[in-house]
Parts: sequence; structure tokens; C-alpha cells
Amino acid sequence: MNSTPSTPLTATESAAQDALRAVLDPLTGQDWVSGRQLKSLRVSDGVATVQIALGYPSRSRWTAYSQLIEQALSQVPGIKQVQVTWDTQIQTHAAPRGQAPLPGVKNLIAVASGKGGVGKSTTAVNLALALAAEGARVGLLDADIYGPSQPLMLGLSGKPDSPDGKTITPPINHGIQMMSIGLLIDDKAPTIWRGPMATQALEQLLRLSNWGQTKDEGGQPLDYLIVDMPPGTGDIHLTLSQRAPLTAAVVVTTPQDIALLDARKGLHMFEKVSVPVLGVIENMAVYHCPNCGHEAHIFGEDGGKRLAEETGVPVLGSMPLDLNIRLQADSGKPTMVSEPDGKVGQMYRGMAQRLAAGLSKLPKDYSGKMPGVSVQPKA
Ligand SMILES: Nc1ncnc2c1ncn2[C@@H]1O[C@H](COP(=O)(O)OP(=O)(O)OP(=O)(O)O)[C@@H](O)[C@H]1O
Ligand SMILES: [Mg+2]
Repeated sequence: MNSTPSTPLTATESAAQDALRAVLDPLTGQDWVSGRQLKSLRVSDGVATVQIALGYPSRSRWTAYSQLIEQALSQVPGIKQVQVTWDTQIQTHAAPRGQAPLPGVKNLIAVASGKGGVGKSTTAVNLALALAAEGARVGLLDADIYGPSQPLMLGLSGKPDSPDGKTITPPINHGIQMMSIGLLIDDKAPTIWRGPMATQALEQLLRLSNWGQTKDEGGQPLDYLIVDMPPGTGDIHLTLSQRAPLTAAVVVTTPQDIALLDARKGLHMFEKVSVPVLGVIENMAVYHCPNCGHEAHIFGEDGGKRLAEETGVPVLGSMPLDLNIRLQADSGKPTMVSEPDGKVGQMYRGMAQRLAAGLSKLPKDYSGKMPGVSVQPKA
């Protein structure tokens, strides 16, 4: 645990470590000592110096987390002052089916839904930006071959570089890397691109992109590559979920989607391929009247909660139907760029943290084990 493991803990340090065991991470429910997030703990002249590296990006929580530690350590005799330094260390999690990892990517996360138009692309881009704002290296793959949205949403255009004529370098805007068929061809893919061609194009976007930093830039991989899935649960989805080393998935739903059982289709698609579903995001759940401030649940309340109870997949968040969310995404500056600290921005950050905290608890290596988070995973 200590940066100098050969030096044994003093009695005060030992007491401090025990006190820290009682502090549970509010998102993972685990303590930072047994989880090995505590990297070093020293007490000298009454000053405790604590270093913690969390497995999920959570910069906006560090001040609150420091207070939890200060409270716990203030009870330890001999400690008068506490200094905490925080860092983020996101681990690689293997794909449940043992597919080879994608070079330059630690974790591959699909954002999907049972049906179209529920807000996958809007949610995917804001989640990706929120993860980056909280301290992660993030990329976004627009897997919608027939109707790419991300070039518009991230304000990216122009052909990407190809350093060797074979691979392509995804451009960066607002701090995240993005690749989309929309950057390579002028119009939407011709409709003659039947299933297999579209699937092949997608595999190439996934595998021929240079994800993460180049060697010259430092060679750091992406912590998360978010995949904005096309609508539906068809061939592209099945192929991607089977062949790509997906670490986990998130399912976006609307309240009517939940009512009409479409959300379950999204969940079952991942169940079939044993990809753990980290949670459901309820989108366009509440309408805030811009004139009178009234809040209305147009399509009913608690659908997400009921779905969670039924399937065991948690609700990561419930997003309002908000004109600004649409206007900002359409203008190439999604809410997480336009108003990253506003009410909606904070909701996206919260969902991103809960998603990443859930992912940090998945097995790093399955070695025959099946995921424990999926909806009744089958072999
Ligand atoms: N919370 C929201 N409030 C207001 N408008 C939203 C919200 N979420 C998404 N939208 C708008 O709804 C429309 C559909 O969203 P989006 O393109 O993200 O859906 P999608 O599920 O990706 O669609 P598709 O299935 O076609 O890929 C867009 O115009 C978007 O700006
Ligand atoms: Mg979309």
C-alpha cells in the first residue's frame, strides 16, 4: 500500500489505516484500503499525508471525499492535520467472451437502446465528455453507418489523417477523440450497403483507427471508448457485440420505451452475448415548462425504477426533456461543453461517474467466470 512498502507502519499510521477502512466509497460501496486505492499513508509531526487513486474518474467529488477522510482521521489520536492527494487510475477490464483487446483502448462501452430516436447519440456524446471532464481519456465511435450524428454533435468535419495510408487518426474536439463514417464519406452510406458491408465498414472504423495517444504524444491509451450504437437490435449490433471486445453496455430508454417493453429488447441483446449492462438511462423523462417552471412526467413516473427492480440493472439517471439539450447538441457544443457545470451538466457527470464506478467493479479478467452484472447472463 505504501510508496515505501519496506517501512512498516507506525502505531498511529496503523490506527489511521483502520479508521480509513470504515470510510466507504459512496459509489462503489467498497473501502479504499481493501480495494487498494489507498496508495500511501504517512503520519509525521501530527500531519497525515494520504494518497488515493480511484478507479473511476470523479474530480468533482474529490473535495467531498477529502472531507470524509478528514472526518475519519480526526478521530485518531496523534493526528492534527490531514492532507489528501487524489489521482485517477482506470484499469483495463477484459471482454467477457475473451476477445482480444483493442489496441489503445482499456474499456469499450456500448451505448444502445431497444428502438431508435430515444437519445442514444445525445447521451453518448455527453457521457463521453462528462467522463473526460472528470479526468479520463475518452474516445467516441459513431457506429451508426447509415445515419451518423457525431460529426455534427462534436462539431467535427474534414477527412481524418492517415499517417501510413492504412490506419486513420481520429480527430479530437472538446478533448475527446471521435471516429465516424460521416468523416470519411460526404453523404450517408448508400442504401446499397446491405448488412455485411455496413458491418465490415464498422469493424474497420473500430480496428483501423489509431485510438489513444501516439508514441510521440506519450503513448497513453484511452480509458474508455464509447460506442454510439445505431438504432435497433439488428445484425450490426449482434456482430459488434460478438466480435468487438465490449467491456460493458449502457441502455438508453424513454419512459414510453419502458412501458412498451422496448427497453427490455436492448437489455436482452446484451444478455445473449454475455456483455454486462451497467445501467439504464431514462431520457426525456421529465418535462420542465420553460414558462411556469412546472415539472410534468408526460409518460408516467417510476418506469425505470420498476425495470431496475425487475431486471436487477440499476437506473444510472433520469434526464429531462430539455430544449437546450437538443439545441446545444445540434450546434456542435453539447451540454457538457456549453454548460458543463449547469444542472443538466451535473446530471451527466453523475451518470458518468456511476457508470464508471460500476465498470471498475467488473472482473479484470474473466478466466471462465461469467459477468455478475448482466441480466441473468447465459453461457
Ligand atoms: N433529453 C433530451 N431533451 C431534448 N431533446 C433531446 C434529448 N435527448 C435527445 N434529444 C433530441 O432528440 C432527437 C433524437 O436524439 P438522438 O439523435 O440522440 O437519438 P438516437 O437514439 O441516437 O437516434 P437514432 O436511433 O436515430 O440514432 C435529437 O433531435 C436530440 O437533439
Ligand atoms: Mg443516434
